Amino acid sequence: MIPELASLRNQIMRFKEEKRALILSHNYQREEVQEIADFVGDSLELSRIAATRDCDMIVFCGVHFMAESASILSPEKTVLLPEEGAGCPMADMIRADSPRPVRRKFPGFEDPPAYVYPPEFSLNDMKKQYPGIPVVAYVNTTAEVKAGSDICCTSANVVRVIESLSSDAVICVPDKNLSMWAARNTEKKVIAWDGYCNIHERVTVEDVERARKNHPRAVLMAHPECRIEVLDRSDYVTSTSGMLRYAAASSETEFIVGTESGLLHRLHKENPEKLFFPLRNDMVCPNMKKTTLQSVLRAFRENSYIVKVPEHVRIPAKRSLDRMLQVI
Ligand code: 13P
Ligand code: SF4
Repeated sequence: MIPELASLRNQIMRFKEEKRALILSHNYQREEVQEIADFVGDSLELSRIAATRDCDMIVFCGVHFMAESASILSPEKTVLLPEEGAGCPMADMIRADSPRPVRRKFPGFEDPPAYVYPPEFSLNDMKKQYPGIPVVAYVNTTAEVKAGSDICCTSANVVRVIESLSSDAVICVPDKNLSMWAARNTEKKVIAWDGYCNIHERVTVEDVERARKNHPRAVLMAHPECRIEVLDRSDYVTSTSGMLRYAAASSETEFIVGTESGLLHRLHKENPEKLFFPLRNDMVCPNMKKTTLQSVLRAFRENSYIVKVPEHVRIPAKRSLDRMLQVI
């Protein structure tokens, strides 16, 4: 390891012990950040851990909504997000109750445009349009949207969550691609919002055809945030940790990976004898890459940035997350 990285790592480990902290990392984080984490996982796994582990502090190496979920589930713990500006543009594509979404700046998302919202519409407007229909909120949403929803879901459990509801129809926000994919896999009617992830949305059918041509023996795994026509041409659609489990269990030896590049680190590390090829070379989430070892160390030193959800939002948001966590 480079001496500078080793020194940062040692300092972080000392703070971690001293503060009884748990370091959580999403599968998309930089390699060196994944390596210092107590746990690396997908959104569902990280939510479960945040809800149950005994510690005083959680340092969440991910994006804002993930740290917010940890704080919602464990209000007694101090939750730190090392990079204040690490947000998820898709989460900001829906507001709970404001006619015009507040446009937040996320550098690196200018091309292609990341800010396409349903015109002057909020979740509450949508609920009024479809009275009585339950709302399933992807965890990639703000605490306010979770609070205004009936249940949360992740890419790992969206179909099971929808099936757990007694109604024949559901509203699913904010990812149109995840919603369409869920609709393909349930008998229920799914009413979708118009949000998307800029990183996954950029994958095209031509990318799939090119990757298939270049790697004819490889299995194509895709994240459900990809466009539906990409998912239709994939062999296996699942969450980030679902891809890790699938690749490890499969007798196949070559895989095309249709998600953010950070997952390649664990795929290579946990399956050194297998080959993994990115579906596109530019599937890099700039917000996930903001967190560095330097920012984790600063987070410990400065106790920053604290993510705390006000109780009037936290309690209904927790109800939606708890309902999700009860779905097997
Ligand atoms: P996972 O829950 O599959 O890890 O996905 C989270 C995410 O942000 C995908 O872009
Ligand atoms: Fe949000 Fe997409 Fe980044 Fe995931 S990869 S955090 S959905 S912008």
